[in-house]
Amino acid sequence: MAKIPQKFIDDLLDRVDLVDVIDRRVKLRKTGKNFSACCPFHDEKTPSFSVNPDKQFFYCFGCGAGGNALGFLMDYERLEFPQAVESLAQTVGLEVPKEEGRPGEVSRQDTQRPLLEQLEQATRFYELSLRKHPDAKRAISYLKERGLSGEIAKTFRIGFAPPGWDNLLSALAATEQQQQHLMTTGMLVKNDKGRIYDRFRDRITFPIVDARGRVIAFGGRVLGDDKPKYLNSPETPVFHKSRELYGLYQARKAHRQLERIVVVEGYMDVIALAQHGIHYAVATLGTATSEAHLDRLFRHVPEVIFCFDGDEAGRKAAFRGLEAALPVMHDGRQVRFLFLPEGEDPDSLVRAKGQGHLEHLFTQASPLETFLFQHLAKGIDITALDGRARLSKTAAPFLQLLPEGVFKTLMYQALADQTGIDVDSLKRLQTPPVVRASVPANSSVEAATEHSPTPDTDTDYYDEDYAPPEASDVEPVDHSLSPAANNDIHKVLGLLVLDPALGAKVDIDSLPSDGRRDSALLKNFVSQIQQDAGTTTAALLGFWYGTPEGQLLTELASKEGLEDDKGRELLFTALMARVANAQSLTELRAKINELKGRHYAQLSDGEKRELLNLTQQLRVLAGRQ
Ligand code: UTP
Ligand code: MN
Repeated sequence: MAKIPQKFIDDLLDRVDLVDVIDRRVKLRKTGKNFSACCPFHDEKTPSFSVNPDKQFFYCFGCGAGGNALGFLMDYERLEFPQAVESLAQTVGLEVPKEEGRPGEVSRQDTQRPLLEQLEQATRFYELSLRKHPDAKRAISYLKERGLSGEIAKTFRIGFAPPGWDNLLSALAATEQQQQHLMTTGMLVKNDKGRIYDRFRDRITFPIVDARGRVIAFGGRVLGDDKPKYLNSPETPVFHKSRELYGLYQARKAHRQLERIVVVEGYMDVIALAQHGIHYAVATLGTATSEAHLDRLFRHVPEVIFCFDGDEAGRKAAFRGLEAALPVMHDGRQVRFLFLPEGEDPDSLVRAKGQGHLEHLFTQASPLETFLFQHLAKGIDITALDGRARLSKTAAPFLQLLPEGVFKTLMYQALADQTGIDVDSLKRLQTPPVVRASVPANSSVEAATEHSPTPDTDTDYYDEDYAPPEASDVEPVDHSLSPAANNDIHKVLGLLVLDPALGAKVDIDSLPSDGRRDSALLKNFVSQIQQDAGTTTAALLGFWYGTPEGQLLTELASKEGLEDDKGRELLFTALMARVANAQSLTELRAKINELKGRHYAQLSDGEKRELLNLTQQLRVLAGRQ
């Protein structure tokens, strides 16, 4: 396909004003330096859609939509990229030139679109099968038995994958290409012998949709007691399950202004609650609640209630949720915990006792602090002096994770009250910093105690096609690209998006190359800026549009921008020093470990001197961190 030259796109973006482009479609109001409106991409009453005229990008704090003028047109008018360019070019009287694309060069946006289309087709196929397939009666009576109405089935687009190995295959894979797309989205599976068949067979299907309602994956439940009970789509280019929340789209559609969200464990819990008038439940997809999940939830509501089983597994899952919540507990946010009686889940309870009962329980849920201290104090006798010391030592690392604010102060106060140790001493407690997923793997600290927060590993269920993830494929998407990770590299990236000129003088070799995806993105990004001096925020966002990286960059940019140019530069310089320092530290530690790994007696004099030298350097550098 003929490709539009990047140079032309950059020129085009230079000539149009995003404020005009948007204002012609959605009335904007000036609010300070920016413009705002109610977001055209989701229902809302108070404006969280913001347009930055200086940087020529828009962002919605509600649904995360964001990008430049082309991205806006694509989303708002539902245009493909070339049509959006065409339409924008017309408004400024430019003609779009064509350039032959290099073979094999396709933008990621082009690769995602057909996948989403196939998933939509699959959804329709399953919806239709639930109405028309000869076996659908069984499925319908199963859903009825579980108390679901046709209306709720429609809202959640519940469907039926009929029995048999090739229903979807024969219905949707007419061409080689369609078959390939269905494989990439995990809807078709290939076995060792090369045979291709439907992943979902004789199951109720639950489409999983993204923030804008586009189907990105499926869950499927057996009608009886077979195993596995639920089958889920694997990780694919359009589905990263540690970020997605089942039911969030529907909850946001049902409520103009959500006040709280309840996190439950299963698909059917979400649906049953909605059936009984509670339209604000979401579920993680067979994984632990992550910081990215909570960050997303808190963009919509100030209060999150975890509603889990009262058994050991439920408490464990709840504690994982608590750990993920701590770093994002900014003042004004609230997390509470509700444990259900043994053997009950939200589905069974709401069916037995109704909406009012559940909502009453929600109001009784324990606040975060109560659950945290209760959980940590388990097995510790805090009437004894050494028990109180132990509690303080165990709890301090968790409190350190809280962002600065009144809540953090109150939490320290509460710990002081319980342990009789004053706040200053608690803060001075020599607890090594906690190892978290967002800390580079090189940091040499160990977790403080057996209770220390653990990195978010996926506690996936055993699926039919489950294979242990390869180190390189899932992990980076899940954690290192999460905006919630909130590390120096992310801050640097945010500043660079807003002010690309800052990247001109960066020494690329000083940047970390630790294999993490965000480090790689930083390197890439800086070299992109350096190759194209004078590039703009809009051009850069355009380049990454439609990719997870693009999403991250847009979010990061929207978090920055309070500083003026001078302040931004100072901040950038300081952060870069820290990033470079961290990189040198990694290298130093690696060299030292290499030398220390050998017998001292076998080192040459030169090597001994080097070791001494390196150790001294390490001390100096580490002191600066
Ligand atoms: P539960 O086993 O608690 O099931 O799994 P449930 O939601 O009560 O299911 P019903 O009521 O019997 O239909 C909770 C969640 O864990 C994931 C699914 O996301 C499920 O909704 N799960 C469970 C799997 O992914 N695979 C499984 O085999 C089981
Ligand atoms: Mn259940």
